[in-house]
Parts: sequence; C-alpha cells; structure tokens
Amino acid sequence: MRERQPIRVGNVAADPRYLVATSDIRSEMAAPLVVGQRAIGVVDVQSSWLDAFSGDDLRLLTTLAGQLATIFEKARLDAALEAERASLARRVEERTAELRTANEQLRQAHEEVSRALGKEKELGELKTRFISMASHEFRTPLTTILSSAELLEHYSRQWTEDKKLEHFRRIQTATKNMMGLLDDVLVMGKVEAGKLRFIPAPIDLDKFCRDIVEELRLSAGAKHSLVLTVQGDATQAHMDETLLRHILSNLLSNAIKYSPPGSIIQFELACRDGQAVFQINDQGIGIPPEDQAHLFETFHRAANVRNIAGTGLGMAIVKRSVDLHGGTIDVASQIGVGTTVTVSLPMGTVSDE
Ligand SMILES: Nc1ncnc2c1ncn2[C@@H]1O[C@H](COP(=O)(O)OP(=O)(O)OP(=O)(O)O)[C@@H](O)[C@H]1O
Ligand SMILES: [Mg+2]
Repeated sequence: MRERQPIRVGNVAADPRYLVATSDIRSEMAAPLVVGQRAIGVVDVQSSWLDAFSGDDLRLLTTLAGQLATIFEKARLDAALEAERASLARRVEERTAELRTANEQLRQAHEEVSRALGKEKELGELKTRFISMASHEFRTPLTTILSSAELLEHYSRQWTEDKKLEHFRRIQTATKNMMGLLDDVLVMGKVEAGKLRFIPAPIDLDKFCRDIVEELRLSAGAKHSLVLTVQGDATQAHMDETLLRHILSNLLSNAIKYSPPGSIIQFELACRDGQAVFQINDQGIGIPPEDQAHLFETFHRAANVRNIAGTGLGMAIVKRSVDLHGGTIDVASQIGVGTTVTVSLPMGTVSDE
C-alpha cells in the first residue's frame, strides 16, 4: 500500500511481512486503488490454498483496482461538484433576495420623491392660478370701490340723494363680493390642508332651505324667481350645517349668476329612503361638455362665462363638502338651455338604517 504496488504472496506462512499467521489464510494478493499520487484503498483477495493466485490473476486484480479507483474518484468529484453547485445556488438565491429588497426600497423611495414632487408641482400650479385669479377678481371690485369713493368725494355736494345712494350701494356690493371671494379662498385653504371637517348635528332641512332661499332673494337673486319645493319629511336630518351651506349657497348662486334675470330657478328637496336629494335647475347659459369634466377642479371656469365674475372655487368646495357627507353629485347641462345639479346626501337619521 505504501509503495502503491500490487503484491502476490503464495505462502503467507513463509513471508516475513506477516506477523501472525492467522487461521486458514494461506495465500493472498492485493492491488492498491491509486488516484494520482495517492492510494485511496486496497482490493484484497485471500485464499485457504497455497499459491492460489497466478500472475494473470494479479494483473486482472490490478486492472480491476485501477477501474474501481477511477469510479470512486469520479463519485467523489461528482459529490464535491454537487455540493459546490448547491452552495452556489444558495448564494445566488440569497443575493437575489437582497437585490429584490434593495429594488423594492429603491422603488418606494422613487415613489415618495415623485409624490413629493407632484405635490410640489400641484401647489405651484395652484399658486399660479390663485395669483392670476386674485389679481383679476380683486382688481375689479377694488376699482369700483375706488372710483365710487372718488366720485362721492368730488361730487357729493351737487349729487341727489339717490345718486349718492347708488354709489354707496356699489361700494357695498363690491366689498361683499370681495368678502365672498376671501371666504371661498379661506374654505379652499382649509380643504387643501385637510381641515374641512364633517361634524353632523340634527338639522331641519325644510327650514334650512327656506332660510337660504330667503337670504338669496334679499341679495343676489332679487331679479330671478327662486322656487322651492319640498317633498317628504325633511325636518329630521343629521348633517353638517356648515358644509351644507357651502353646497347649497354655491349651487344656488351659480344658478342665479349664470342665468338671465327674470328666469326661473327651481330648487327641489326630496327626502325619502334615508336620502335627501337636492336638485337645482336653471335656464341659463349651460356648461360646455368639455368643461363639465373639469367642473370640480380648483379655479376652473368654463369657456362661455365671458365677463361674469367668479373664482372657479365654488364647485370645488361643493364637491369636497358632498364627499365629506358621503354623498353624490351629478351635473346635467346643455348650452343655452340650462343646468341641473343633483346632490344626494344620506340623511344620517336612525330611520335610514
Ligand atoms: N349653473 C351653471 N350654469 C352655467 N355654468 C355653470 C353653472 N355652475 C357652474 N358653472 C360653470 O362652472 C364653473 C365653475 O363654477 P364655480 O362655482 O366653481 O366657479 P365660479 O362660479 O366661476 O366662481 P365662484 O368661486 O365665485 O363660485 C363656472 O365658472 C362656470 O363656468
Ligand atoms: Mg360659483
């Protein structure tokens, strides 16, 4: 074995390499399993006869040992290769998982950055639109106030009481317009900051609608016929009064603003199945189809408004207020024929369950 040579011993008892002559073994031959410079084992054949093995036997054994050694070595190499392959596959799997995590983190970071950028861009656009709206919408009433005040200063002595009153009224109306505009901007600011809250409380819708209609008749709607009809029991609802006021006063003032003096504005309230359905119909200029899709966007105004004053904030406020109530809004309009806006809000009473 040490010399990596095959051996053949004809008589074991006569060979000095055998220390103890055991039992019935008389002759023996052995061939080492050699791989490269290394013997990895021995094939050993023993016999109870003397001189049992010939030189040919030993050569046969040696050839056999050579083939066995090749097979063993191949099996060992295969096993090592397989182990290496498995460990490589494991490492690839680990790296892939790490890469996937890193990718996911990268995607999230990218999303966050683009969200922030989008918000920033949106705010920038809002600011631009606000500045262009404000510079236009504030300038008109301010010009009116300034010119009426100057005229009053110079001519009040010559003027009749009626003439003076007319200019005082102009100043008042222009001031009210500006106040309304500021109110809208403030409400929209609250909306953008997520501070417009839904705080429902018991409310008599019948009375509430009558009061709003009365207020409008006294101010803006004096030249229109505002007709209110109420169906069903509207006295016991549970809604947010402030939001409801935003909804109805904006819709009604639009109906007035965008329809000719003397025309009829129908305001219907129908309460049934736990829903309050408010419908406001005018015979005004209508909304072009391409603008209808953008009606609830801040500062958006339709192409056909011409010189009718407005900020384009009213409908955006209406939409947010309807959403906060968990309601729906629907607009049907035809150019030159009129507009019907339908708002459905859950009444929020016990009976609607
Ligand atoms: N009843 C209506 N008839 C015709 N057009 C309408 C009507 N209601 C809304 N619109 C169109 O929708 C646009 C948006 O309405 P919104 O109430 O938001 O703004 P606005 O009336 O222009 O300004 P404000 O903020 O003063 O209400 C209007 O500019 C107008 O073009
Ligand atoms: Mg409006």
